[in-house]
Amino acid sequence: MQVPKLTIGQFTFDKPIVQGAMGVRISSYPLPPMVANLGGWGMITTIGLGGDEAVHRDYPRISNEALVAEIERCCQLSTKPMAVNVMGALSNVNDLIDTAVRSGIKIVVYGAGIPLDLPKLVPDLSVNLVPIVSSARLVRIILSRWAKKYQRLPAAFVLEGPLAGGHLGFNQYELDHPEIFNLKNILAEVLAVVRPYEQMFGQKIPVIVAGGILIADVPYWLSLGAAAVQLGTLFVMTDECPAAPEFKQAYLEAKPEDVHIIHSPVGLLGRVIHSPFLDKVAAGQVKIECPYHCITSCEIKTARFCIARALYNAKLGLLDDGLIFAGANVHLMDRIIPVSQLMAEIIEGIEASPLSLPS
Ligand SMILES: Cc1cc2nc3c(=O)[nH]c(=O)nc-3n(C[C@H](O)[C@H](O)[C@H](O)COP(=O)(O)O)c2cc1C
Repeated sequence: MQVPKLTIGQFTFDKPIVQGAMGVRISSYPLPPMVANLGGWGMITTIGLGGDEAVHRDYPRISNEALVAEIERCCQLSTKPMAVNVMGALSNVNDLIDTAVRSGIKIVVYGAGIPLDLPKLVPDLSVNLVPIVSSARLVRIILSRWAKKYQRLPAAFVLEGPLAGGHLGFNQYELDHPEIFNLKNILAEVLAVVRPYEQMFGQKIPVIVAGGILIADVPYWLSLGAAAVQLGTLFVMTDECPAAPEFKQAYLEAKPEDVHIIHSPVGLLGRVIHSPFLDKVAAGQVKIECPYHCITSCEIKTARFCIARALYNAKLGLLDDGLIFAGANVHLMDRIIPVSQLMAEIIEGIEASPLSLPS
């Protein structure tokens, strides 16, 4: 198979590989610029960048300053275009988008929320808007709204399937029925919804797939019409991922039975690896204090733990108090390699594949 390039608006990436955003600095510097320099799409996360300082002081201001600093250091390592990832459920999401755009970012990827009026917030047409979705229904809603109200289309969609790591756009019923709710079915439905809009506007809308994708699977997804793959778990298992060694070790040791679905205080299901922290939560031993309300959908009164704090602890390697997000195929992770090797192996797999790209 020929290696397809990925075009997002005015930008072309040589490799159809997207580094998924992973909040609380799991995918922060130097991962995004390393991926960008190797011809992929690096994604800068905005979530939880303020860390401890933001908890105790002015949360929105410190978060913005941390984002500016993160963008600056990523741009010092790479002059290639990089995206910024935001979560719709963040209480300061609009601020972060504004800060990113003012810092020169030209691709905004928006997950965990329905970005009905994102074009209003970012009227600059040189900024590419990319919603993260998990169903054809959501794609239809966004396309119809943006086309009618803003005469504008998303530059691409990231379609996250039920096997992804982190927060999921699926309910328990959907997760229990993989014969219906699987990435292959949903991709076909999404492509069918997208095509008429592409024709209407004379504009391509690449669909990038994510969730449980392994190196050997990439040609398959490209042959089904995905424009690229977004990977999270595989990027954690790189030397350049700044997560603590204990976090990566938990991935290496994970068995299929260690992978759980939890109810996150955010109001979504999430996929995690078992850690002592989950036992503490189950036993009601976790105290929760919320000096700042970082997630609008977080039910502080009923929450059994602070998701931001738990994710941050895991990133630091404090697994007794940490929540380890991971994709469904985490039990297959058996090595930590340089980003360059991961990307080279993906490209070799595409080139060697007897499959072909759809015409
Ligand atoms: C540790 C971890 C943290 C994540 N954090 C975020 C996030 O902050 N924002 C987001 O849009 N997706 C997040 N994700 C989802 C990834 O970007 C990616 O889409 C997903 O992991 C793909 O599935 P895979 O891990 O099986 O490759 C996270 C995933 C993991 C594993």
